[in-house]
Amino acid sequence: MKTIIEPFRIKSVEPIRMTTPEERRDLLRAADYNLFKLHSDDVLIDLLTDSGTSAMSARQWSAILSGDESYAGSPSFFRFEAAIRDLMDFKHIIPTHQGRAAEAILFSILGGKGKFIPSNTHFDTTRGNIETTGARADDLVIAEGKNPSLVHPFKGNMDLAKLEAYLEQHGDAVPCVMLTITNNAGGGQPVSLANIRATAEIARRYGRPFIIDGCRFAENAWFIQQREEGQKGRAIKDIVRDCFADADGMTMSAKKDAFANIGGWLALNDDELADKARTRLIMTEGFPTYGGLAGRDLDAIAQGLSEIVDEDYLRYRIRTNEYITERLDAMGVPVVKPAGGHAVFVDARAWLPHIAPLQYPGQAVACKLYELGGIRGCEIGTVMFGRAPDGTEAPASMDLVRLAMPRRVYTQSHADYIVEVFEELTAMKDSLRGYRITEQPPALRHFTAKFAPL
Ligand code: F0G
Repeated sequence: MKTIIEPFRIKSVEPIRMTTPEERRDLLRAADYNLFKLHSDDVLIDLLTDSGTSAMSARQWSAILSGDESYAGSPSFFRFEAAIRDLMDFKHIIPTHQGRAAEAILFSILGGKGKFIPSNTHFDTTRGNIETTGARADDLVIAEGKNPSLVHPFKGNMDLAKLEAYLEQHGDAVPCVMLTITNNAGGGQPVSLANIRATAEIARRYGRPFIIDGCRFAENAWFIQQREEGQKGRAIKDIVRDCFADADGMTMSAKKDAFANIGGWLALNDDELADKARTRLIMTEGFPTYGGLAGRDLDAIAQGLSEIVDEDYLRYRIRTNEYITERLDAMGVPVVKPAGGHAVFVDARAWLPHIAPLQYPGQAVACKLYELGGIRGCEIGTVMFGRAPDGTEAPASMDLVRLAMPRRVYTQSHADYIVEVFEELTAMKDSLRGYRITEQPPALRHFTAKFAPL
């Protein structure tokens, strides 16, 4: 059989409120052309993020009812802990309300002025949590990972030579080595098992703890199974276990590869570090057996983890993004290739060369996608990264638009619709205009800035 069907039936639905392009033009104007300001029920297909937007299964909803809300020692915590250990066998598992809380706790201990923390690419909250402690966050992804149109099976890989040189140069000022799987900021690109192992080996040789940001670990394992030599035919769960076997800890957002709407964790093997983390956790999140979550959330995560490693799910999941990416590529829309695990990335700068980077080509594409088709994506480019803390502006390294797929939420006809909207957009792309910013805050401007069309 050729068609990869959605490996689920729909038991409970949410209506999409239909709107017309005319209505959306007005809504866009009222939102000052900032898609973060739209009401989500004015969006037809919401691809702003794959985080916390998953559809939970019937079994997860059942698990929610059996959640135990005891303050300390809840059985929900022990189910959560066991489900994580089944996939990644860390000694200490510390629940947090989401991924960035795990990062904040970890770097409040490991960060600090004069410290240097390398990764393939730090996600922006990771970078933020490192930098607020005064430490420096550096991205050492392989050169192929920075070229959107270049096809390479593991564009998220760490540049091992650069990592060694970095450890030589900064020595004891490096408190840990991080690795993000998949590499979200680089287009959801995977890291090979060989690269994970080699990164771990280098970190160990230099006596540095090796910490994985594991948000999309199951998608990463799927790519390893499909693309890495010697991994074909292996069970996803075994690959996942191998990925974490050499790590000293991990940070996790359960809003991604645990099918949960909220949650996360910090896992560590070192007793002393874990003690410090739990002390901090009690101050900022909660008691170590709930960590900022309700018992029912812990159960939803535990059940979600048993579902995320299902091969039929992963095949459908990865194929959706691949399908849209292939169709856009065939239509001449420049896309990040190969397709990443959780999103389709459009290279707006390459597609709209008539719009200068400082007139935000990514914003132009994102706004038009909404107006034409009610699709909400996210600019990842000069709007997001173009402004320095001193207020000066420069083009970001790329101007991308991310269309992030919520898990188990949209169907093939939604995917075909997205492609159709791009067909319409392609026909009129030369008429698109840039934007200017009329008001902006001093930091993280993409969330609240106001825009006007040029
Ligand atoms: N690490 C990675 C690789 C992420 O993609 C995210 C979140 C986090 C950490 C932080 O986790 O949101 O639970 O605090 N990424 C979302 C996104 C927000 O849209 O890419 P969180």
